[in-house]
Amino acid sequence: MKILGISAHYHDSAAALVVDGVPVCAVQEERLSRRNNDASFPVNAIDWCLERAGIDPADLDAVVFYERSMLKFERILTCTLRAFPRSWRSFPNAINNTLGEKVWVRGIISSHLGVPRRKIFFTDHHASHAAAAFVTAPTLRAAILTADGVGEWATLTVGRGERRADGSTDIALDREIRFPHSLGMLYSTFTAYLGFAVNEDEFKVMGLAAYGRPVMADHVRKLIRPTADGAFALAPEYFEFQTTASRSYSSKFVDLFGPPRNAYDPIDLQSSEGQRFADCAASVQRVLEDTLLDIARRLRHESGLPDLCFAGGVALNGVANARILAESGFERVFVPPAPGDAGCALGAALYADRIYFRNPDRNVPDHPFWGPAADADELARAARDDSQLVETLDDGSLIERVADELADGRIVGWMDGACEFGPRALGHRSILAAPHAREMRDRINRDIKCREEFRPFAPVVPIEALDRFFDVPSGGARLARFMSGVFPVRDEWRSRLAAVTHVDGSARVQALEREMAPRLHALLDAYGRRTGIPVLLNTSFNVAGEPIVTRVLEGYTTFRRCGLDVLVAGSTLLMKRAAAPAAKPLKEDEQWSSESAAGSGAV
Ligand SMILES: [Fe+2]
Repeated sequence: MKILGISAHYHDSAAALVVDGVPVCAVQEERLSRRNNDASFPVNAIDWCLERAGIDPADLDAVVFYERSMLKFERILTCTLRAFPRSWRSFPNAINNTLGEKVWVRGIISSHLGVPRRKIFFTDHHASHAAAAFVTAPTLRAAILTADGVGEWATLTVGRGERRADGSTDIALDREIRFPHSLGMLYSTFTAYLGFAVNEDEFKVMGLAAYGRPVMADHVRKLIRPTADGAFALAPEYFEFQTTASRSYSSKFVDLFGPPRNAYDPIDLQSSEGQRFADCAASVQRVLEDTLLDIARRLRHESGLPDLCFAGGVALNGVANARILAESGFERVFVPPAPGDAGCALGAALYADRIYFRNPDRNVPDHPFWGPAADADELARAARDDSQLVETLDDGSLIERVADELADGRIVGWMDGACEFGPRALGHRSILAAPHAREMRDRINRDIKCREEFRPFAPVVPIEALDRFFDVPSGGARLARFMSGVFPVRDEWRSRLAAVTHVDGSARVQALEREMAPRLHALLDAYGRRTGIPVLLNTSFNVAGEPIVTRVLEGYTTFRRCGLDVLVAGSTLLMKRAAAPAAKPLKEDEQWSSESAAGSGAV
């Protein structure tokens, strides 16, 4: 059975194709249209998926949209009318935006693909999140938690999933919290208040939180109150998102927390004002974590299950995820590589396959690499046309060469195979660098990423060496598989991992298994042999304001106009210029290799 899943019209559109119960490909629209967070109907992503799989639209058995657009329309209409006359200014916008194309999704799909309307289906938004988390996780039964800003009406659901011995799959979401009571909206309101872009910059709030203290947590708790049934309710007088799209917080909110930050003013963490914003971020972060933990603990107790599958935009909060793992009682927490709405394209297709059509259970490959592949020959041709020095190396020589360049302090653009589905670079579209000195972080921020100084970079480490450098609880390697948890860097390594250690001593580490990205694993090994520390800085391969590069030509043009020193795609290597070597080449006394670490039971 061939099922196309689509998410669109809110944030980060995507398409995914599932054939005979297994994902074949998936890609976000922004990676092809090159418009950051492209929310438009994903024509490019759909066309690429079909072409990649060699499938004609007429051969599709079903096309599944990730939410029920009429219900969403009902919610917008109801909320707008409830708030009338206060909402009269925003009403025309809300209706225009909604009526534009969001409601008439069936017609749009039908006319674009030429598929009959009877083949077009809709899932609940949170059912899509739930399937994206549960069906892709290597577990047979698990509790399920989904949390985001809002879908149709639901903002958080709890339930359970089961893959039965008879091949059937069950996903039951038993309870939900409904709009406007929303953890995602609470966090987004602070995102707006702190001068960041809502639905895009929530991770900046999490990064800023590490610089503050949660001294205003009691203030935040005035905004969100626990209810007798174990849920929560937002106090409406502090918010305006439920009545207007133009402002999230009310004047009463400003009375409580002080003047909001102007988005154009840099955050000066040395000033009292800058510290107030950091404290604000720390406070909402703490309350978010505590609220999620209460819900997760109750879910653990009620379900009796050791595994939790967690998705929705809130599951991008790696600090909260790590606390859920450490403190809720769940032994394993599975967060998919694309927990947000883009991942719902895959979730919707999988939900339809397993639940609507009752197709038999299948194992889903446990990796994030579902997008377009990097073509090394294409890069070599383009670079030679520009009279660049191009080298083509066999795999072993290339790995050793790149490890040399990294150990000499050079910054590498690394493209390998199919690109990641989801917001994080997990080793196929990454910028890699030595992780040891703070100067490297500053150089990448200044010459490549052009971003705020308070934002940390992430490390990648072979799973065999995870425990040596990071203080990860039992089950943490699973969260770290897709960079979904933030864990402490061990004290003794912080000064030697300064470029990837956040101000509070933590890191959003990726623990890499050899099978998931063998070439990057080999590179970490080679780098470890040179320096004694098999850890690299791993950040997404893009510059500020642009989506992560997809095809090699995008990587090449990015390489040409920013501070990257080396570009690699498959067997092709380009050098731009001789970079200054690291101030002090790092060399540990102790030699390292993944074989010896695995042999010593370091995992
Ligand atoms: Fe969502």
